[in-house]
Amino acid sequence: MIYTNTLSLRHPRGTAEQCSSSGIHTVCDTVTLRNSSVFNTDSCLRRNDTRLFLKYILPFLLLFLWVSPAMASGDEIDLPQEHWSFDGAFGTYDKAALQRGLKVYQNVCAACHSLKRVHYRNLSDLGYNEEQIKTIAREYTVPDLPNDEGEVLDRSARPSDPFVSPYPNDQAAKYANNGAFPPDLSLITKARAGGADYIYALMTGYHDAPEGTELLAGQYWNQYISGHVIAMPSPLSEGLVSYEDGSPETIDQYSKDVAHFLTWAAEPEMEHRKRMGIKVVLYLIVFAGVMYAVKKKIWANVRKP
Ligand code: HEC
Repeated sequence: MIYTNTLSLRHPRGTAEQCSSSGIHTVCDTVTLRNSSVFNTDSCLRRNDTRLFLKYILPFLLLFLWVSPAMASGDEIDLPQEHWSFDGAFGTYDKAALQRGLKVYQNVCAACHSLKRVHYRNLSDLGYNEEQIKTIAREYTVPDLPNDEGEVLDRSARPSDPFVSPYPNDQAAKYANNGAFPPDLSLITKARAGGADYIYALMTGYHDAPEGTELLAGQYWNQYISGHVIAMPSPLSEGLVSYEDGSPETIDQYSKDVAHFLTWAAEPEMEHRKRMGIKVVLYLIVFAGVMYAVKKKIWANVRKP
């Protein structure tokens, strides 16, 4: 049945207010009204949607908001939030910071930590050309394949080699560090909550132990490690690594640069991933527009009964 507003019309259940109660919108749907202020299909549906949202979805959202910070807190230590050039959907790595970070890693951290998943050729991401990469790799030696006499000699590393580890195996690494194992740093920013913020905080978090805290030999107090006791001595000090680009040679700057570099090491494809994500979102927006236009066109001549 189609009503038009040339007929004097009364809704069977009364006013538009009531038609929003559950089930009744089907009555509204069967009525086609033009310019009627009494009730119309759209407002009925909108009201029902709002009811549904308030009744079912809002409580879930509130519960989620209440529970998630509670879960995140627990025993966690608050990390200082640094500003990184790679933050956000459009963030990118800062090549100068990456190069400085590589220098800090090579001169300091590489004495104890391996970086097995990064190959010298990957350093092209940092802006080095082939020759520069060959020169960097040549500074290290790796065991060659056995020669005709069965001897294993050393050769200098090539761009295709992974970063050379400081110790031949894990046991040697532990033995040299009082039994504590210095973890491989290739994925460390992914393996620790806070990522780059954590590395920065850890590097700058060494202080004297508070009164009453007993530390054994080879243990150090750090504000940001869980339990506050770490077997790594503070690795950085002012002026330890020389920078050619005039950046400050401070613990703070070294820590930021090495955290930047380790983030790249763990996620070298980040920039590509973000670029792809933006393209996909743009594509979906355009596609949704096209689909909407198609839907309008297909249904243009169809009236509700
Ligand atoms: C003298 C050797 C040594 C040097 C140099 C060194 N570390 Fe360590 N590092 C260790 C040891 C040993 C551990 C394991 C500590 C533990 O388990 O308590 C460790 C642990 C770590 C951890 C893991 C902490 C955690 O949450 O478990 C990170 C991250 C780290 N080092 C980063 C660095 C960085 C970055 C540098 C260079 C700036 C560096 N280290 C230099 C010996 C070293």
